[in-house]
Amino acid sequence: MKVIITKNYDDLSKEAFKVMKDVLDEKGNAVLGLATGSSPEGLYAQMVEDHKKNGTSYQDVVTYNLDEYVGIDRNDPQSYYTFMNDHLFKDIDINPENTHVPYGDTAEDAKKYDDAVKGVDIQLLGIGRNGHIGFNEPGTPFDERTHIVELTESTRDANKRFFDNDINKVPTKAISQGIGTVMDAKKVLLIANGADKADAVKAMIEGPVDVNCPASVLQNHPDCVVIIDEAAASKLSQ
Ligand code: F6R
Repeated sequence: MKVIITKNYDDLSKEAFKVMKDVLDEKGNAVLGLATGSSPEGLYAQMVEDHKKNGTSYQDVVTYNLDEYVGIDRNDPQSYYTFMNDHLFKDIDINPENTHVPYGDTAEDAKKYDDAVKGVDIQLLGIGRNGHIGFNEPGTPFDERTHIVELTESTRDANKRFFDNDINKVPTKAISQGIGTVMDAKKVLLIANGADKADAVKAMIEGPVDVNCPASVLQNHPDCVVIIDEAAASKLSQ
């Protein structure tokens, strides 16, 4: 695990962009594993800016997102499908047919998506305050594939900011790539910022590899880059 600590969120997004750009430069038809949430917004803004200024093309790029809520419409403003269109896809030259966000609420839907996620060159991840990656909450077996998950109170509480600050409006279930699916990616890029991520970041980097901190599994990934700002790094012992 390679750890890069940056002064602030802006620098974090720029560092993350460099890692992403290296993959795109190396392979015009790269397969990107993408995440939603606040953490990648700066990186996506960098990708859009670079596309507009330097013409980096996504025409042959394929994307697979990590997760989606169950029970809200694709075109709902809070769906992850909408998030990806708003923050990235609508502003780059990607072919909509090459973009994939999981959808559905059955084991069959999950299996179908898992079978489709193939050859991911770089998987982008954020981390939850409880150490989750994707929506793989603490206790999820490391070999789990794409599945339907029951969201924890902690995750719903963290995400209520997108739902009028009302936890009751936050869906209770999601469809998420499993840890086994994530670990199949050739490279993993995890980004985290802010003091509320400091405990999870410490457990991920310095704690035992344990299902109680799903992100700790990344210690076992052969090519994982973690980029965090000083606030998220504040509890690390070195
Ligand atoms: C999003 C996802 C989640 C988030 C995590 C952090 O697709 O899979 O694991 O990465 O909850 O969220 P933010 O970035 O909003 O703090």
